[in-house]
Amino acid sequence: MARPIIIDTDPGQDDAVAILLALASPELDVLGITTVAGNVPQPLVTTNALRLCELVGRTDVPVFIGAHQPLVRELFTAEYVHGPTGIDGADLPDPVTTAQPKHAVDFIIDTCLAAGTDGVTLCPVGPLTNIASAIAREPMIIPKIREIALMGGGFFAGGNTTPVAEFNIYVDPDAASLVFNSGVPITMFSLDVTHKALVLPEDLDRIRAIDTPVGEAVAGMLGYYERHDVEKYGIAGAPLHDPCVIAYLIDPDLFTGKACRVDVETESELTVGQTIVDWWGVTGAEPNTMVMSEIDRSGFIDLVVERIAEL
Ligand code: RIB
Ligand code: CA
Repeated sequence: MARPIIIDTDPGQDDAVAILLALASPELDVLGITTVAGNVPQPLVTTNALRLCELVGRTDVPVFIGAHQPLVRELFTAEYVHGPTGIDGADLPDPVTTAQPKHAVDFIIDTCLAAGTDGVTLCPVGPLTNIASAIAREPMIIPKIREIALMGGGFFAGGNTTPVAEFNIYVDPDAASLVFNSGVPITMFSLDVTHKALVLPEDLDRIRAIDTPVGEAVAGMLGYYERHDVEKYGIAGAPLHDPCVIAYLIDPDLFTGKACRVDVETESELTVGQTIVDWWGVTGAEPNTMVMSEIDRSGFIDLVVERIAEL
């Protein structure tokens, strides 16, 4: 039985690979894609999600428009990383399909309330605005959420947007704080593990060798997307942040970590958006998150390349 999931996303090249990986994987049943302003604003994140579903002939997967801005703060976007389209490097046509009329938050609420005993897995790979809004508006969904597997945060790795804050959490720290305090089981893929999920030049060559429109689009996106992090960090390739969430759901053995208490700084302008991960358990606080720290990188890359090649 395929695991029912909702992908909440701000495409973004790495979001795009996460979406494509999920759509290529029979282990997962993508009930819908909900969009959130992040890497680029609305409606572009929604347009990109529609483009990606059309690229792989999956217009059966409904796309829902979500938040246009964070709960409290002003929207901060990342065209400096992802380019003006958000998925620069791929030349995808404007979509011919449209988003669903229902709001993303209503879709998340309705889907969770209607879920069976196994519940729904939420996969936020952008700012947590939609997820927090759904939980705040309808707390009855909490027992129907099997797990929130999210990309966001950092601890020993610090931040990528400020010295201590990772982009998804930085954009909407108030939403992130609500989610981490919701009581829902959370599995966190922070920069500490995603910065080890690098696409090395030889991996990109494998993707380029996938002689399909999908392979061409993914190679183009990653070729564009890597330039920022390679230059900033002096690393050998782009970190595949968001696909870590999907790869974990397909093959959990690719990752290891431990249960920790995680809180989010929402007040200090110096450290807003920092995820405070009690890795050594010094507070004695009850853990609320499985924090992933290690990845089988080659196994992860093999999974991504093999599944993308099947699309
Ligand atoms: O910090 C990396 C995260 O921010 C990824 O989800 C990327 O897509 C951006 O949203
Ligand atoms: Ca993202």
